[in-house]
Amino acid sequence: MEKKQRVETGIAGLDKMLSGGFIPGSANMVRGAPGTGKTLLGLQFLMCGASQGEAGLLISFEEFPQSVHHDAQSLGWDLHALEEQGLLHLYFTSPQVLLQSLASPGGPLSSLFLEKEVRRVVLDSVTHFTRLTNDNQQLRNIYNSLINALKREGVTSLLLAEEGRMDARHTERGQLSFVVDTILLLRYVEIESAIQRAVTVLKMRGSAHASEIRRYEIRKGGLNVSGVFEGRENVLTGISHRVSR
Ligand SMILES: Nc1ncnc2c1ncn2[C@@H]1O[C@H](COP(=O)(O)OP(=O)(O)O)[C@@H](O)[C@H]1O
Ligand SMILES: [Mg+2]
Repeated sequence: MEKKQRVETGIAGLDKMLSGGFIPGSANMVRGAPGTGKTLLGLQFLMCGASQGEAGLLISFEEFPQSVHHDAQSLGWDLHALEEQGLLHLYFTSPQVLLQSLASPGGPLSSLFLEKEVRRVVLDSVTHFTRLTNDNQQLRNIYNSLINALKREGVTSLLLAEEGRMDARHTERGQLSFVVDTILLLRYVEIESAIQRAVTVLKMRGSAHASEIRRYEIRKGGLNVSGVFEGRENVLTGISHRVSR
């Protein structure tokens, strides 16, 4: 059988921006402010895998499974069915417990990967690790062991990262951006007194990728990436204006 070249996100417009999808076995970051759709994008990524028979795991420090189900329902997704088929696993834990289980290759998480044949992992969110330590070097070590463990398992992962105006600095404290393979940025943009959503690929190691900034909407069925912001300046700084010609 031909080896699969790319791991699709299930969002057609985004896959196009990623030259087909993520690289198998890569660790990828999704950065965005609260409400930009990181968790939903993560779920869509796992559901896409499930539809191809690949089991997925959502590790959440934030939301109880019940609340994840509720969010998914509002988009018309039934996660229960996938769970029953063993194609989706929701795992609610703390950063401390996760790190401990990652440190032991034969630990509970490893056996979950092995027994359930998990191929895709979403971690919601890596920002919680910043609260474990004030020491930058220690935080960097935490991120490194996280990425190493994910790579050792051979899974393709999405690391969700909170980005607020106030704590963008904190997100970067352990320099996670340097060790991930891809960075996707989700942003709110103000255009003519309306809030729109913008997505861009900031970095993708070992691959060509789109450099434009595209619109996306969240609606029933999930995220939908559409056209580019043409003739616009400062889209990513938050307040955009039309370029005069
Ligand atoms: N059914 C829906 N229709 C349209 N938008 C929705 C729907 N459900 C959720 N959303 C949008 O998705 C956002 C939440 O997405 P989520 O993935 O939880 O964000 P994040 O994880 O980045 O905080 C909400 O703020 C809302 O704007
Ligand atoms: Mg979220």
